[in-house]
Amino acid sequence: MASDAVAARIAVLRREIDEHNYRYHVLDAPLISDAEYDRLFHELVAIETAHPEFITPDSPTQRVGAEPLPFFADVVHEQPMLSLNNAFGEDDLRAFDRRVREQLDKDEVVYVAEPKLDGLAISILYENGRLTRAATRGDGSRGEDVTANVRTIRAVPMVLRDGLAPAVLEVRGEVYMKRADFARLNRDQESVAAKLFANPRNAAAGSLRQLDPAITARRPLSFYAYGIGRTSVAPASQMEVLEALRGYGLPVAREVRLVSGFTGCLRYYEEIGGRREGLPFEIDGVVFKVNSVTDQQLLGYVSRAPRWAIACKFPPREEITEVLDIEVQVGRTGALTPVARLAPVSVGGVVVANATLHNADEISRKDIRIGDRVYVRRAGDVIPEVVSVVAESRAPDVRPFVMPDRCPVCHSPAERIPGEAVVRCTGGLICPAQRVQSILHFVARKAMNIDGVGEKLTNQLCDSGLVTDVSDLYRLTQAQLADLERMGDKSAARVIKGIEQSKTTTLDRFIFALGIREVGEVTAALLAAHFGSLERLRDAGMEDLEGIPEIGPVIAARIHEFFRQPANQGIIERLLAAGVRWESKAKGEDANQPLRGLTFVITGTLQAMGREAAAAALRGLGARVTGSISAATNYLITGADAGSKYAKARGLGIRILDEREFLELLEAPARYAL
Ligand code: IVH
Repeated sequence: MASDAVAARIAVLRREIDEHNYRYHVLDAPLISDAEYDRLFHELVAIETAHPEFITPDSPTQRVGAEPLPFFADVVHEQPMLSLNNAFGEDDLRAFDRRVREQLDKDEVVYVAEPKLDGLAISILYENGRLTRAATRGDGSRGEDVTANVRTIRAVPMVLRDGLAPAVLEVRGEVYMKRADFARLNRDQESVAAKLFANPRNAAAGSLRQLDPAITARRPLSFYAYGIGRTSVAPASQMEVLEALRGYGLPVAREVRLVSGFTGCLRYYEEIGGRREGLPFEIDGVVFKVNSVTDQQLLGYVSRAPRWAIACKFPPREEITEVLDIEVQVGRTGALTPVARLAPVSVGGVVVANATLHNADEISRKDIRIGDRVYVRRAGDVIPEVVSVVAESRAPDVRPFVMPDRCPVCHSPAERIPGEAVVRCTGGLICPAQRVQSILHFVARKAMNIDGVGEKLTNQLCDSGLVTDVSDLYRLTQAQLADLERMGDKSAARVIKGIEQSKTTTLDRFIFALGIREVGEVTAALLAAHFGSLERLRDAGMEDLEGIPEIGPVIAARIHEFFRQPANQGIIERLLAAGVRWESKAKGEDANQPLRGLTFVITGTLQAMGREAAAAALRGLGARVTGSISAATNYLITGADAGSKYAKARGLGIRILDEREFLELLEAPARYAL
């Protein structure tokens, strides 16, 4: 390429990249995909690498490139970076508005309402439109020079837009991390066994204060501008400031708004408070600023905060407390869940005394020990969780937690399936902790289909001792039911009828209803079809089970173990004695094998399950699954990266299902029968 052409292409690419950056970060209205953006970027990198003489410091490729620093230089803030006074509750806000009105001698004051972002304050200096320096707030008068790091933040333009930029413009704003980016960062940290960040604010602060800008560049930081410091322009209002900043290509929160008087402020506070959890970033409150700059000047400052602004904090969602103990609860599915007993602490207005620790891996990952001081957090209505240990304050006498090897409720062995995080009780139908769940599963529509037995009644039946396992359902009398609270004769009669009707079922439903772990509807149908009778299934050895192509060793072990347990044998005996029976196999077959006669091919990678499992599911529904496309193929199921089979199937006019459609098919196979 001739040198002119190179320069021209570089100019076009830089303009386009800057424009897409602006559309993405400021307008929130990207025109191209991330992949297309990357292509433009890589083209620019390639040309600049071949022609380094064209590289300029404000090229978008030059965001990273500075060498690591030995330390951060000091920056003096010519205009101090102030903080905000806080209002705690409605009364403080009302008092603030009253003071402002009195001092300005006005009946009603217009404020700019802004979200209070939870990150760290930053000052970014633009001289003649070019970013020349960026500094942290520090103590307000003196901060640290983090220019090289701030240059790596894509939301921060290196050159202001429109050529209208003033000679001097010091932008003030917040560097923060979006929730999704934070979650991804912590996942990445976890995968390399690196330290996890307690919250997005810590992650943003830690990332910005890196001496090596290459590290900062890999951290997903964002930026919002909310004000100006030194400048050669004189906007008349805060809203004009924000609009001008947006015009220069700086991101400003979309939630900013003009509001009027105390009621306007309160309404905004409540509205944003209600949307807090849905926002893509964390906020710890809202800020109200008198809009008119003349009025701001009249009001002036008290010590380190303006009289013309106030922060209204939301209740904090994170507090520090002590782990008094770690206990193990058995969930309704038999999962053993460690729970932290905490010294009670009020988090966001609710007293928190317990927090789930999810599983043993989670505890060791976060290295939580009994006696530790920890951050607890409540996000929205979600159950409180322990975020992390307060690292600095570990006492010498803290105790590590050990997962028990028996169920604390029924004392059956607890076991962990390789590759899974949860430890489960193997007690199944005999474990009281799992009783309600096993009964609900048993009566479910796709299992025994017992009408009228829902969660409430199941709880009542278990609590009253009328039912300890599923076989007791068939011994219930109408009188016993009618005696239960809020149960009339009529409802009792309906339940008894439902139970009676359920006695006539099918073998696959019965197998499914037993609730053998890992045995869903599809596997149950497969087992019924393969063994043809309950006796043959019950007596099957490991080899028989593993001999079925669709059954892997884990499921085989589950099934085998289930039928060896005396408690389960007893329940099955009692169910059969109560009159539960099924129609002969031949009759039930069609209903359970809706895909009989159809041939499927699977290609590509499925997200939800492996190809083997997908094939097993289809076979369970009666389908044939083959390895290659032919005229006899009815359906091709395509995962990601489907290859030549896809083209071949299209050529033959074979119906093609993507993964979503395939999952729909498993839900409602009859609809796909030809
Ligand atoms: S204005 C003189 N506006 O809150 C005004 N601050 O508690 C100074 N903050 O250090 C700040 N969002 O880090 C302002 N919309 C917003 C803000 C905001 C977050 C932070 C900022 C500041 C702290 C003061």
